Amino acid sequence: MIQVAFFDAKAYDKPSFERVGREHDIHFRFLETKLNEDTVELAKGCDAVCVFVNDTVNAAVIDRLYAYGVRLIALRSAGYNNVDVKAAFGKIHVVHVPAYSPYAVAEHAMALLLTSVRRIHKAYNRTREFNFSLNGLTGFDLHGKTVGVIGTGRIGRIFINICRGFGMKVIAYDHFPARDSDIEYVSLDELFASSDVISLHCPLTEETRHLIDSSAIGKMKKGVVIVNTSRGGLIDAEALLEGIKARKIGAACLDVYEEEADIFFEDRSGHILNDDLLSRLISMPNVIVTSHQAFLTEEALSNIAETTAGNILSYFENDGLCNNELCYRCGHIEQCKKERKERCF
Ligand code: NAI
Repeated sequence: MIQVAFFDAKAYDKPSFERVGREHDIHFRFLETKLNEDTVELAKGCDAVCVFVNDTVNAAVIDRLYAYGVRLIALRSAGYNNVDVKAAFGKIHVVHVPAYSPYAVAEHAMALLLTSVRRIHKAYNRTREFNFSLNGLTGFDLHGKTVGVIGTGRIGRIFINICRGFGMKVIAYDHFPARDSDIEYVSLDELFASSDVISLHCPLTEETRHLIDSSAIGKMKKGVVIVNTSRGGLIDAEALLEGIKARKIGAACLDVYEEEADIFFEDRSGHILNDDLLSRLISMPNVIVTSHQAFLTEEALSNIAETTAGNILSYFENDGLCNNELCYRCGHIEQCKKERKERCF
């Protein structure tokens, strides 16, 4: 039986992973703790580790895993910015779940946007206290507004279709524009200058870190609504707060936050929150924060478990070839072996 140390396990992970484990003879050892240099020892005796977005899989952790005989890092997420894929190269193979339900994330982005522009979060709280006043709840139509989508991959494109359904004008920026599409691509500066709503759907890389900083915010329309369901590090949260205080940013909808690792996914209601910046953002009437929840649908959880089990089996029981393998050469078509149906190393 393949032994897998499953870090950062949550109650919602267990039913789907237990089911695929039974079906495929994989034993998932559920561990509540996150993977990092202090906890890596818990992976001893396992063939693989299964990790999520806030586990730390840096060079030091990878070397220890390798020494323990772990041969596969199975991410149960699409994003992999928390894994040092370069350090893993030649030692431990890395697989991920590229698409489990892009609809889940795109629909959550629209849910946040609608909640914000129609003040649903305010109305919900009011009517629960039998306050039926409409004062301060005036929103605006999405119809006819311009939405700027940054990153037109799986999720970005679904979000674009949803926005088109609302009658919005869509413009987009992508480092690698899709050739087979009718998307109107513009420069990043043009997108900042023309958009009433900006939604982020690109990965977090060295290049995209703080893509939304004070300089970018300075180029935006007054009253712009920023939606981030991608990765917190895409936004300089200090600059975002300044933009909100200056009334430049009309609203922010955040499913992710740069410093979320030690905060999100847990009930901290009985604790003092040490992160002043997040506290201040949450206190703003025009900021909505959800705690990295965009992926959380029944369909997505089931797809994540099935794809992860498939990734593990293709490594340990088949020929080791896995379409979902990752390495630091991903995105560099000319160097990518996977494109040629070979293992990354
Ligand atoms: P994808 O790989 O299909 O698309 C990403 C797009 O971003 C590609 O078109 C790519 O060319 C583009 N891109 C790369 N570098 C760029 C740059 N410097 N500037 C602009 N665009 C650039 O990825 P997918 O599945 O659409 O996911 C997007 C992101 O959503 C993931 O990277 C992940 O961080 C995030 N995500 C968040 C979830 C949540 O629960 N909040 C769940 C799943 C994904």
